[in-house]
Amino acid sequence: MRQVLKPVLCLIAGLVLALPLAACGDRDAGPEIKPPAPPISARGNPAQELDGMRRHVPVDVEITPLPMARVENFDRTRGRAYPMQPPTIPHSIDGYQVDLNSNRCMLCHARNTAAQFQAPPVSVTHYMDRDDQFLAEVSPRRYFCVQCHVVQTDAQPLVANGFMDIDEVLRMERAQ
Ligand code: HEC
Ligand code: HEC
Repeated sequence: MRQVLKPVLCLIAGLVLALPLAACGDRDAGPEIKPPAPPISARGNPAQELDGMRRHVPVDVEITPLPMARVENFDRTRGRAYPMQPPTIPHSIDGYQVDLNSNRCMLCHARNTAAQFQAPPVSVTHYMDRDDQFLAEVSPRRYFCVQCHVVQTDAQPLVANGFMDIDEVLRMERAQ
């Protein structure tokens, strides 16, 4: 009996000693994490450009990721920056499956069910094949919705973006 007990007791003693050590070790390790850097021009210095994402942590040090962005789920649509921009999704899509056998998105966004769910039906482009022929069902090239449509989150841009809406460009031209 004692022969069995001894290794077990040693193991427990070892764990009790090792646990606080591991906990202390963790606290010391790792670089100091700074909050996200202000956006830097995407055309700027390529070395600096990484800073937006790496938050000044050297490349050879592992970074602690920021908390994941929260998905907005309050049905407020965001503007489109240009006419053919796929609109962002103003609701969460957790658990909406899109695979060979079913397309959850089309449950609400198909023409014949959209009214029931008060959802905007997918536009006619989603029924066109690459030869501009209209199909009865959503076109295979528009089947995987999240290839083009993304959910809206509260994430801050990591790099600056100089994109200008055409209306803004025209207004500037007229002002000159
Ligand atoms: C339960 C029904 C339902 C499902 C399932 C659903 N949606 Fe929606 N969707 C809506 C409704 C309703 C709206 C209108 C805005 C709102 O109320 O959120 C909407 C709005 C949108 C819009 C904005 C359209 C615009 O003109 O701005 C997009 C894009 C969209 N959904 C994409 C998707 C995608 C992609 C999926 C699957 C991953 C999906 N939806 C699944 C109900 C649904
Ligand atoms: C290849 C990219 C692509 C895919 C895949 C795609 N869409 Fe779109 N979607 C667009 C673009 C671009 C627009 C805006 C221009 C237009 O209507 O064609 C749009 C518009 C929409 C709109 C707004 C329609 C309107 O009249 O305002 C809804 C809703 C939508 N898509 C839902 C979906 C759903 C649901 C799927 C999956 C079944 C899907 N999309 C797949 C690119 C895509």
